[in-house]
Amino acid sequence: MNLSFRQLHPKFVAEVSEIDLKEARDQSVLDEIRAGMDKYAVLVFRNQQLTNEEQLEFSQRFDGKLHTQTSLSVLTKNRHGNEALSDIANVNEKGELMAKDDRRRMNNLGNRLWHTDASFVDPAGRYSLLLGKVIPPVRADTEFADMRAAYDALDDELKATIEDLHVHHSIVYSRQVLGFEFTQEEQDKLKGAVHPLVRTIPGSKRRALYLASHASRVVEWPVPEGRALLRDLTEHATQPEFVYQHEWRTGDLVIWDNRATMHRGRPFDDAKHRRELTRTTTLDIALAS
Ligand code: OGA
Ligand code: MN
Repeated sequence: MNLSFRQLHPKFVAEVSEIDLKEARDQSVLDEIRAGMDKYAVLVFRNQQLTNEEQLEFSQRFDGKLHTQTSLSVLTKNRHGNEALSDIANVNEKGELMAKDDRRRMNNLGNRLWHTDASFVDPAGRYSLLLGKVIPPVRADTEFADMRAAYDALDDELKATIEDLHVHHSIVYSRQVLGFEFTQEEQDKLKGAVHPLVRTIPGSKRRALYLASHASRVVEWPVPEGRALLRDLTEHATQPEFVYQHEWRTGDLVIWDNRATMHRGRPFDDAKHRRELTRTTTLDIALAS
């Protein structure tokens, strides 16, 4: 179908030419999108009118099995009744703006820290597909950082130092940083996962840093030394030259590669304006060939 890609940032991110993703079924089209993901790591599709079902279907067609543990499903049942469709919204089941002290709102504030989706479980998330349904009249952007470009920019000595390190990722850790409290029972269910700090992404063969707010310690190092390293690397990777800021329009579907990027939501007056998006995330497991 020959899609075209208009790059939106000097290092990554592209807006894709007109296509209706609910009708995108041909393998050749899906392959073009995958090739675009390998190159740009974040793709923006405009004017997508997908129902929840159509978003779930496209996500599976495109990249296989869906993740069902990308958020704190231990907290409450999801408004959409399907844990594979994350409710990225500031409204409750009655459709009202969440109260300031709603525990789900407190948890959602975690999206404002730089992260990758579901790095605190194994398998983690590969692609996330976020559809903008209700977009507020004020800026409520999502920022992305290119973790491949950030890796490339490290000096050789640091690259060698971090080459074989592993990182423990935990949502208990990232939420506790914000002062969010967990019961013992919740903590027992949320043990976290260990992933390499540097990886090669199969499709592009590019090396990338794999970091997140969930990154709690470097397995091979003493805790303080590891945390200091993780902080330094995160500061490095989120400098303006590596960051793209997405200003949402209704109907935008943004797909990002969690292996190649970090992202965060920007603050806005969420007690005043509704913001409703739905996210699917695929499992980072080998693709059926
Ligand atoms: C997400 C996420 C940020 C935002 O959906 O995974 O982190 O801006 N969203 O809503
Ligand atoms: Mn996220």
